[in-house]
Amino acid sequence: MKGRESGMPDEAYWASFYDADCIVAKLDCAKAGTESIVEFGGGYGTFTFPAARRTSGTVHTFDIEPELVALVNRRAKESGLNNVHAGLRDFVAEGTGLPDGSMDHAMVFNLLHLENPVGLLLEAFRVLKPGGLVSIMHWKYDPTTPRGPSMAIRPKPGQCRAWAEAAGFRFLRDQDLVECCQHHYGLLLVRPSAKSRAA
Ligand SMILES: C[S@@+](CC[C@H](N)C(=O)[O-])C[C@H]1O[C@@H](n2cnc3c(N)ncnc32)[C@H](O)[C@@H]1O
Repeated sequence: MKGRESGMPDEAYWASFYDADCIVAKLDCAKAGTESIVEFGGGYGTFTFPAARRTSGTVHTFDIEPELVALVNRRAKESGLNNVHAGLRDFVAEGTGLPDGSMDHAMVFNLLHLENPVGLLLEAFRVLKPGGLVSIMHWKYDPTTPRGPSMAIRPKPGQCRAWAEAAGFRFLRDQDLVECCQHHYGLLLVRPSAKSRAA
């Protein structure tokens, strides 16, 4: 099931809100340069390509919209980025299909207003290796932002943190994105290793 209020506006308008390279850097996407990444709801690939350029690992990005998946795969081919795999998938209904514990980083951007955020974060947890990171970015809880889900379903950072913790993640930090964008906040959490869970 497509998440509520998760349609995309015109691409140039959407891209105008972000310095996407700055955001993926701030949120530690592929900090080591070798990470495998899963992205939930890649849209136009706004953050897919900046992440893919930072890693020699594969970026698995999933979306429910066939045109967006085709667009991302076409652009990856055109730009010679052979580490981008865009998959057509309803990850709410079916999950990602990725093996347990196979990814280093999960990107969940502009999405946690969907109906079952903990369910999605549980899938992120499942596919991440122990020590793997989940980065969350979303529209600020502010009715004057030029876009974003309606306030009734728009989560605050603390709510995103609580959902991620309910899925098993350990909070690392709130990430100020002021250098990268005006209207968004970021958070970073980790899938604890078995050892640190026991501690
Ligand atoms: C608001 S957009 C955000 C796109 C991207 N993360 C970004 O920030 O640029 C949400 C995306 O999630 C996709 N989506 C929504 N529900 C989905 C589902 N159940 N399975 C796969 N993709 C989904 C939508 O098609 C859309 O492209």
